[in-house]
Amino acid sequence: MYGYFEIQAKIGITKHMGGLEATKKLLDLCKVDESDQVLVVGSGNGVSAIKIHQFTGCKVTGIDISEDMVKRAREKQNPEIEFLVGNAENLNFPNETFDAVISESVTGFTNKAISISEYYRVLKVGGYLGLNEVTWMFNPFSEIKNNYQNFMGIKPESREGWLSFLEKAGFKDITSSVYAMSPWKQFMEDLELKAWSFSEFGVDSLNCNSKK
Ligand SMILES: C[S@@+](CC[C@H](N)C(=O)[O-])C[C@H]1O[C@@H](n2cnc3c(N)ncnc32)[C@H](O)[C@@H]1O
Repeated sequence: MYGYFEIQAKIGITKHMGGLEATKKLLDLCKVDESDQVLVVGSGNGVSAIKIHQFTGCKVTGIDISEDMVKRAREKQNPEIEFLVGNAENLNFPNETFDAVISESVTGFTNKAISISEYYRVLKVGGYLGLNEVTWMFNPFSEIKNNYQNFMGIKPESREGWLSFLEKAGFKDITSSVYAMSPWKQFMEDLELKAWSFSEFGVDSLNCNSKK
């Protein structure tokens, strides 16, 4: 039986909460510009990584744990961007390589303490981490948490939970905002991302940035 990401890789679609509007907000918070080297963790089908390059002119490296996802991203043949197979929990880069690390709807699927300390390690001093991750607005019954985890493999955190992981990893100057997504708005933003996926560029939580 196919898992959640295998199905997504087969059809070539990945998404995050808030769509590309959320991505742009994160890039602003992280002050990304054309001089920056940016790591996109869990780059999925490559759409957001390519858009991050197009929005800012920065150099982008995308990594994803799924070989099929990386294949999907490479199919888009954007020579400016390197897509590599890699694990957020064990990044194959030297210390202090990147000006910014961006993760959208990825870190919630990982061992957060390990992956967030890896993000810290590969960031240059003064670099920014931008996270856009699913966040509990209230403390749900454990059955709801378990169902979420069993069905999608994701373990959301409360705002305080995310901030605690960031602080423990050593991040300073942390800002965060939690925003509610209406199902309709999310659907429209997903459609926007899908349109980009399908047209191969002839064309979404918590938004949070933290400074190393
Ligand atoms: C919900 S998708 C989001 C993809 C992309 N960020 C986007 O916004 O379209 C989550 C992605 O994270 C990847 N992923 C999950 N665990 C990972 C890990 N430990 N390291 C790297 N990528 C991972 C999955 O393969 C999938 O492509």
